[in-house]
Amino acid sequence: MTRRFTITTPIFYVNGAPHIGHAYTSIAADVLARFHRLNGEDVLFVSGTDEHGQKVEQTATAQGMDTQAYADKISASFRQMQQDMAISTDEFIRTTDERHKIAATALWEKVAANGHIYLGAYEGWYSTRDEAFIGEDELVKKPDGTMVAPSGAPVERVKEPSYFFKLSEFQDRLLKLYEDNPDFIGPHGPRREIESFVKQGLKDLSVSRTSFKWGIPVPNDPDHVMYVWFDALANYLTAVGYPDLNDPRAKFWPADLHIVGKEIARFHCVYWPAFLMAAGVELPKSVFAHGWWTVEGEKMSKSLGNVLDPKALADEFGLDALRFFLMREVPFGGDSNFSRRSMITRTNVELA
Ligand code: ME8
Ligand code: MG
Repeated sequence: MTRRFTITTPIFYVNGAPHIGHAYTSIAADVLARFHRLNGEDVLFVSGTDEHGQKVEQTATAQGMDTQAYADKISASFRQMQQDMAISTDEFIRTTDERHKIAATALWEKVAANGHIYLGAYEGWYSTRDEAFIGEDELVKKPDGTMVAPSGAPVERVKEPSYFFKLSEFQDRLLKLYEDNPDFIGPHGPRREIESFVKQGLKDLSVSRTSFKWGIPVPNDPDHVMYVWFDALANYLTAVGYPDLNDPRAKFWPADLHIVGKEIARFHCVYWPAFLMAAGVELPKSVFAHGWWTVEGEKMSKSLGNVLDPKALADEFGLDALRFFLMREVPFGGDSNFSRRSMITRTNVELA
């Protein structure tokens, strides 16, 4: 029997143009997908765009655009970026696709039917930039006295009716998962962080929002939309035709490897396996959290105007040189810095 291999990238928020960080994660996954195909395996390589939630809605509104039209435009630019980078994806999931709505809804229904979701009210902090609920104890005080998320993103106070996922019930099973499967989380640093986060005790997780509409409606309660991370994580099941077990792609589950940036390791190593355990769906075999790229020593940001366009770099240096540089510059997992000087040096000294 042919061995099969299922690999994914994160699905990208459609709140801005793709940059070198999105290209990096896509290229890393592509290198592995191509390696496994050369090895004679049957590969499913999944990527896509994460289009719901407050952040996307706010960005579209700020641009004076209809949210769906905006999502269409940015999603297309991610697809184009992947074409420009020669990314060999088999499935490109958009969370506004009907097939995704079906999968996310089925996952919710299964988790709810198994008794792991209840109605309550959320009162606390929310970071729209991170699309994350931030615990009181996680807030960080800036020198000017304002409280922000650990990432540095602003937070706002939220109070609204909400469905909760009984995450607290999964603490022991998650710890056992990490212990029994030392390769479930790579590399070592994020693994230790995740384990200590879970050991500190898990609170139930708010999994719906009522203060805006841009999302997948909660089954039987359309005043709520699903929390964007419940919706987004389900994309990995959409790609294998869930909940249709007769779908020809069903054999590609469980995924072998979710490649993610380290800032979203918690969502993939804690929430995602817990949702799947709650639904009775097999768990992915591993999650690898790679490091973060800066540019000429600075964090990329629109306000600094230093966001690197991968297409422009490929046009200037050649696509193979760019792909080689990104894979060669840093051991996978570590942080790295993009500088023109080292791009040129690596190309001339090593690749040429
Ligand atoms: O987090 N360096 O989407 P996102 C390295 N929609 N990698 C980078 C990077 C950088 N500077 N910037 C971005 C989300 N990335 C969610 C994911 S998954 C079910 C939902 C890469 O648009 C890296 O892989 O913020 C990171 O995790 C991902 O883009 C985040 O993209
Ligand atoms: Mg992000």
